[in-house]
Amino acid sequence: MRRTVLASKPLYGSALARVHAEGFEPRSLAALPALRRALQKAPDGPVLELGSGAGGVLAALRADGLAIQGLEPSPAFRRLARARHGALPLRPGTVDTAPEGPWAGILALGEVLNYRSPEGTFEPWARKLRRLAQCLMPEGVLLFDLMVQGPAALPGEGWREEAKWCVAFRFSEQRRHGRREIVTFLREAGAWRREAEVHHVDMPTVAELEKALQGAGLVYQLRPAWGRYALPPRRLAVEAWRRA
Ligand SMILES: C[S@@+](CC[C@H](N)C(=O)[O-])C[C@H]1O[C@@H](n2cnc3c(N)ncnc32)[C@H](O)[C@@H]1O
Repeated sequence: MRRTVLASKPLYGSALARVHAEGFEPRSLAALPALRRALQKAPDGPVLELGSGAGGVLAALRADGLAIQGLEPSPAFRRLARARHGALPLRPGTVDTAPEGPWAGILALGEVLNYRSPEGTFEPWARKLRRLAQCLMPEGVLLFDLMVQGPAALPGEGWREEAKWCVAFRFSEQRRHGRREIVTFLREAGAWRREAEVHHVDMPTVAELEKALQGAGLVYQLRPAWGRYALPPRRLAVEAWRRA
């Protein structure tokens, strides 16, 4: 079933998209060896990436010869992906509008599945994972990372500065709901441009996540790393297979 695309302003304006591409996409690229190992065990067929961002993973897997399609809601990210990688099979779209497939693999890296809509709505984990599982071919694989609830508090604030940009964030959480305020400064044409966004995420407990994966009929492994690449605290890498 197709759902309505959100009418509100998408997340990731042009400044944050650029900062993400330069400063944070390398984390997802570090997962590529583990992603490739999993995809090699999947059936032959097309692969879908949700929330492709600046397109690095999409471009790398496409260069491997995979028939991969990306969906990305942020126009700024789609423009940046094309500027960095040329013509890419990347379309506007969200997790809620994922085409039904069937897909040999579905990827969602960089906590894509955690995001609430800008209005704060969120498809419950059990329903979301069941729907995505139904978009897989038998023995197809769903690969994603996500933030989970946990006893250790995540950093409440932080910042990072590079020559041409600076990004600062403030994070607060109340049980399943995380709220991240992000302010980005980007040096452009000799001046600094400021952009601010608020992101809302939904974080399941590990028990809720496992229940949702089981309810979706998926056989899964949860790990704190993609192969040798360790994820930050309270993040899990999920490799989940649809049964034959
Ligand atoms: C942290 S970035 C990760 C981008 C890229 N996957 C990577 O690993 O570099 C989160 C991505 O999720 C996308 N996103 C947020 N909400 C989404 C939704 N409902 N459906 C699809 N993508 C979404 C954002 O636009 C952004 O590209």
